[in-house]
This record gives sequence, structure tokens and C-alpha cells, in this order.
Amino acid sequence: MKRYVLLMGLIVSLSVAGVGLGVGAADDWRKSGSDAQKLKNLVAAVPGTSHWMFEIGERYKNLYWAAQQGKWEFANYQLEEIEKLVQMVQLTRPKRAATAQQFLDDGMPQMHKALETRQWNAFKRGFNQFSEACMRCHAQNDHAFIVLPREPKAASSPVLDMELDAD
Ligand code: HEC
Repeated sequence: MKRYVLLMGLIVSLSVAGVGLGVGAADDWRKSGSDAQKLKNLVAAVPGTSHWMFEIGERYKNLYWAAQQGKWEFANYQLEEIEKLVQMVQLTRPKRAATAQQFLDDGMPQMHKALETRQWNAFKRGFNQFSEACMRCHAQNDHAFIVLPREPKAASSPVLDMELDAD
């Protein structure tokens, strides 16, 4: 009898573990979840502001160094990508949509204009104002401690090949 109870206990615990495994491994919500469950999980997985900002930060450095190296088309491409990423923040974080719009209205157009001149001095003046506009939004969103360098020390894109330049 005792043996029987033990055996039953083992079978029950094995089947519970089996169910647990089933949920973890076999039940992939991406394939078999309901539409509502999929939507809920996808919304939860949408990156927050900081993810987009991380990329914006890299493009900010690349923008500066592309201009420094006279790669104006690449600089322009960086600026356009930054613009799209700020619009992405607007979409994914509605509470930041208004301050993001302010940046798009006030910070963006003058940077575009400065870039069009393809002159380093004009670019540099525009970039300083651009940097201030970025940080204005940080302050408006309780992140004034995130301070950007006016003259980033290096870029991250291989297109700008900073390692070779440093040699
Ligand atoms: C809509 C307002 C807004 C604008 C516009 C904005 N930022 Fe941000 N940024 C934030 C907020 C808020 C954070 C903090 C992240 C968080 O709260 O999730 C941040 C964080 C950052 C970070 C830190 C990322 C990290 O985790 O290391 C960098 C770098 C950054 N921003 C760069 C920029 C640059 C460059 C610009 C301008 C081209 C810019 N930001 C424009 C709101 C903004």
C-alpha cells in the first residue's frame, strides 16, 4: 500500500512537471497563442524610450563625425534616421509625444538647414543648437542628468572608420 501511494505520488508529480514543460517549451504563444495574447505580449515587448535613445545617441555621434569627415550624405542619412526614431518614441510612449513634437518642430529644421550648407562652421553652430534641443527634452522629461557632449570623441559606425583615423 505504502509503495502504491509512493508510486502514485511519483506519477502525479511527473505529470505536473510534464504540464509545466508543455507550457514552457511546446506552447509557443507566437504560434499557438490567441490573437489577444499575441497582441498583449507584443505590446509588452515594444522597446521603451531608452532603447530608441540608445540608437539616437549612436547616430548623434555618427552625424557629428560624418560632417567632420565631409561625408555629407551619410550625415544627412543619420539625421533622417534620428528624426524617424524620435517619431518612434512619439508612437511608443504617448506621454512623451508632445515634447517629442516640440523637438521635431524646433530642433530638427535648423539642423537640416545647417547640414545643407555642407560647411563645417555652419554645421557646428547647428549641431550645438541641436544638442541643446535634445537636452531640453531630457529636462522636460525628468532626465536633465543625461548630458550630451558637444564634440563627441568618436563615432561607432564602421563607415566612419574611426580606428584607422586614430592611428
Ligand atoms: C521626447 C524627448 C526626447 C528627445 C527629443 C530626445 N531625448 Fe534622449 N532621452 C529622453 C528620455 C526620457 C531619456 C531617458 C530614457 C527613459 O526614460 O527611458 C533619454 C535618454 C537618452 C540617452 C541615454 C540612453 C542610454 O540609456 O544610454 C541618450 C544617449 C539620448 N537620450 C540621446 C538623445 C539625443 C542625441 C537626442 C537628440 C538628437 C535626444 N536624446 C532627444 C528623451 C528625449
